[in-house]
Amino acid sequence: MRLIIQPDYERLSKWTAHYIANSINKFEPTKTKPYVLGLPTGSSPVGTYKEIVTLVREGKVSFENVITFNMDEYVNIQEGHPESYHSFMRQNLFNHIGIPEENINILNGNADDLVGECNAFEDKIKAVGGIRLFLGGIGPDGHIAFNEPGSSLHSRTRVKTLTYDTRIANSRFFGHDINAVPKLALTVGVGTVTDSMEVVLIVNGHSKARALYKMIEEGVNHMWTSSALQLHPKSMVVCDEDATYELKHGTYNYFKDIEQKNLEPAVL
Ligand code: GLP
Repeated sequence: MRLIIQPDYERLSKWTAHYIANSINKFEPTKTKPYVLGLPTGSSPVGTYKEIVTLVREGKVSFENVITFNMDEYVNIQEGHPESYHSFMRQNLFNHIGIPEENINILNGNADDLVGECNAFEDKIKAVGGIRLFLGGIGPDGHIAFNEPGSSLHSRTRVKTLTYDTRIANSRFFGHDINAVPKLALTVGVGTVTDSMEVVLIVNGHSKARALYKMIEEGVNHMWTSSALQLHPKSMVVCDEDATYELKHGTYNYFKDIEQKNLEPAVL
């Protein structure tokens, strides 16, 4: 696992956006060879999405031949609700990057058959050859997508009950009214994420410091589902200084040192 420590959220966002754009450009996607990208919602990726929009406007990357799969969506919330993940993605990214409508895949939390919806999502990922890069964030309890503590590390896309912790954390988007936060969500599984060829997680802010420590320094554990990335052959966390607060001094220095020697050009 790589750990990229950036001084602040702005630089973290820029670094991540440029890393993704570089990866798309290197792949040289075409209609018959599309680049398949997994995407998250939440506040963590907002800066990255903003920078991706800038790169598209500057003509440095194109989403014409990119297919996206979103991690999750609430159950029983209208697509047009301002806090649905459909709305979030359109507002923050899809409306501004010229991606063909048919290339966007977001779970339908209003489907009559939720289990069928989840299975079809997995099938569609397989049908396009799997996900090349899955971008994600983590919750303060270390969850990835909506894979709450105790989720199987082999889990697939399914219906999930949200924990009290997550509903409190997300109530900030619902006028701080926990009762307005949906109780269920559809989410890709930990296994769906780790099946991707590459996983990149954005971890920013002091509130994620404990989760980052648990994910990196402690063992693989279903109570901190993002720790499953320790077993992934190509995973990377991009964090800011605030998020490193709980890391051991030695761990911090080790990753800082090793990344200084990494010559990969991140910025376009
Ligand atoms: C939700 C989402 C996750 C996200 C997490 C953290 O639970 N399902 O995908 O990573 O929130 O959100 P934020 O980035 O707002 O801290």
